[in-house]
Amino acid sequence: MIIYKSQAEIDLMREAGAILAEALQRLQSIARPGVTLLELDREADRFIRARGCIPGFVGYQGYQNAICTSVNEQVVHGIPTHRKLREGDLLSLDAGLIHRGFWADAGLSVGIGKISPEAQRLMDVTRQSLDIGIEKAQVGDRIGDISAAIQQHVERAGFSVVRQFVGHGIGRDMHEDPQVPNFGIAGRGPLLKPGMVLAIEPMVNAGGPDVALLGDGWTVVTVDHSLSAYFEHSVAITPDGPEVLTAPAAQRRMSSPLVGEAGNFPPPPAGEGQGGGHD
Ligand code: CO
Repeated sequence: MIIYKSQAEIDLMREAGAILAEALQRLQSIARPGVTLLELDREADRFIRARGCIPGFVGYQGYQNAICTSVNEQVVHGIPTHRKLREGDLLSLDAGLIHRGFWADAGLSVGIGKISPEAQRLMDVTRQSLDIGIEKAQVGDRIGDISAAIQQHVERAGFSVVRQFVGHGIGRDMHEDPQVPNFGIAGRGPLLKPGMVLAIEPMVNAGGPDVALLGDGWTVVTVDHSLSAYFEHSVAITPDGPEVLTAPAAQRRMSSPLVGEAGNFPPPPAGEGQGGGHD
């Protein structure tokens, strides 16, 4: 069952998303060679709680940490350990929080120090595929339009999308209906309506699409040990187009750049802007 959110609920999810965006920016800024995955996790936990939110991954189906840290051939759900980041690593960070009863879920891949051109291209294509999927998240489109657009962009670049894990609706629960696969057929699947909020999360492998679960019961890895990248945003479907709730505030509107945030308007030219007023 798809749960549609009211404007007031989307307002709360926007607040949740803004805090999560800040947390991820913070993690990205401190991820460098020598830093351990657990240090990133501790900082995420501290940051989220300091803003009055709950690090919702903690205790989720027995998970113990605030974030997932997946390195190189790890796809998603890597458990933070004392492993030190090394120059050239491709790190995927996934974080979630609960703010006044509502979830935000987002993640990104980041290169540690200087990374290989192939790792950079994998990250770029994965990031682009998320943006392309978000652009398809328009009222009147279907889930399959998002899925197909992501898959097409990834496969044209010679990479593959993971099948065993998918995006999802999000709200009072982290995982709500509908599922949002990163592969599929345009025109199929649930219709997108105002009030839906979706976590769109392409997981892209440099090699084949198959993944396996490690013995820790969480970490997902590529079967062929190829590199994997991942980006995720929580996105509200609105009559004005998709609103990326987990993007930094200035970048939230994808398709209607002048709608919404006051900060998106250019400043008035010098010497003007005082006398006119509104009618
Ligand atoms: Co998610």
